[in-house]
Amino acid sequence: MDKLVISGGHKLKGTVSISGAKNAAVAILPATILSDGVCKIENIPAISDITLMCRILSDMGANIKMINKNTIEIDPTKMVFCETPNDLMRGMRASCYLMGALLGKFSKASVCLPGGCDFGTRPIDQHLKGFKALGADYDINAGVIHVECKKLVGTHIYLDVVSVGATVNIMLAAVKSEGLTVIENAAKEPHIVDLANFLNCMGADIFGAGTDVIKIRGVKKLKGVTYSIIPDQIEAGTYMAAAVATRGDVTIENVIPKHLESITAKLEEMGVNVESFDESVRVFCDKPLQKCNIKTMPHPGFPTDMQPQITALLSTVEGTSIVNEAVWDNRFRYIEELSRMGAKISVDGRLAVVEGVKKLTGAKVSATDLRAGAALIIAGLSANGKTTIENINHIERGYENIVEKLTNLGADIKHISHIFPEEEEVSGI
Ligand code: EPU
Repeated sequence: MDKLVISGGHKLKGTVSISGAKNAAVAILPATILSDGVCKIENIPAISDITLMCRILSDMGANIKMINKNTIEIDPTKMVFCETPNDLMRGMRASCYLMGALLGKFSKASVCLPGGCDFGTRPIDQHLKGFKALGADYDINAGVIHVECKKLVGTHIYLDVVSVGATVNIMLAAVKSEGLTVIENAAKEPHIVDLANFLNCMGADIFGAGTDVIKIRGVKKLKGVTYSIIPDQIEAGTYMAAAVATRGDVTIENVIPKHLESITAKLEEMGVNVESFDESVRVFCDKPLQKCNIKTMPHPGFPTDMQPQITALLSTVEGTSIVNEAVWDNRFRYIEELSRMGAKISVDGRLAVVEGVKKLTGAKVSATDLRAGAALIIAGLSANGKTTIENINHIERGYENIVEKLTNLGADIKHISHIFPEEEEVSGI
């Protein structure tokens, strides 16, 4: 397995540019199959989740052309109904968006239960409740969900929990249905708004994305368009946390500062200076940091996808900080790895009690999932000595060129390939 080797203790300084949002891209790519023409998607992040989604769509008959590393053209017009490629589907959570997209396109879908990061149980009951309300029947057999309908008819759907995935899937199924669908208690994440904007560019009639009531009036046709994905809120937040962890001074470009408000608010509470401009934020520290409590929540609350990174940061802030993970049952598995580096954190269910230590020390650790991997990078950048991170395939799922971006900021980080272990690559991922 490839690994990352970090020599910690270098302050990050300079400018980093943020890539397109993973969680918007993995919803928009399946959405393109609803189009009656060719779609060109720009600002796609060059990450392994996107490669996998493209392989799945291509296996199912979509014609995919890479224009350059961040622009993809998708022609879904020759697709005929088929089952999804199960081995590939298990590689990512967002593969479940093919349920809504295929249901909207062919009135049926046979989709293997999705994979993705392991945070305990990841039910899809709200997705299925939405499909059923729209008029589809489903059954689950040997790990494959089959959903089918004569036609989809608009309806009112109240989500029992705020779910990004269910909101996306219902939007995809409802966009070409008959009549009006209203999703109440919908997710409000920036990627939900981006998906709605993309579908509306194609000719959909979606109103209210970004609030908790989304209204979708079904349309007969969706046309091919050119669309550019929004910047990645979590990638930006990760660089903000890395800048602070090394007590550096970093300007993060190509961001939507509004999307970063919950992260900015918490960093400011810790005593960090965050200056917001039109499309960038500058993060720097000029005084000792203060402890701070965090509770993750659906947008606009503090994002669960920033919880591991902020916990890594708090592990070296004096005093006791409490981190409450209110979205996922089990998103603290990485704490054991941080402890190897000297972090003093105890976990009780969904609460982590973080006793700040003066310094972490480098160690051999393993990324347990995508954001856990990001947290270990942040810990390694701030630690004394050498940190080796294994299982970096998780990190490659969501961060474009992270080694190169951090190196340009002054970090000492190397990607060691398992094929050529003696050669140290600078821009492996
Ligand atoms: N839930 C249900 N029933 C459902 C669906 C969800 O009970 O039918 C619960 C979940 O168990 C969880 C909560 O609702 O407790 C939120 O789950 P949600 O459906 O919003 O999560 P998701 O769609 O599976 C997306 C992101 C995750 C991110 C969550 C929460 C994508 C591809 N994934 O997952 O991102 O943590 O929303 O914001 O958009 C990541 O990028 O690292 C990542 C894991």
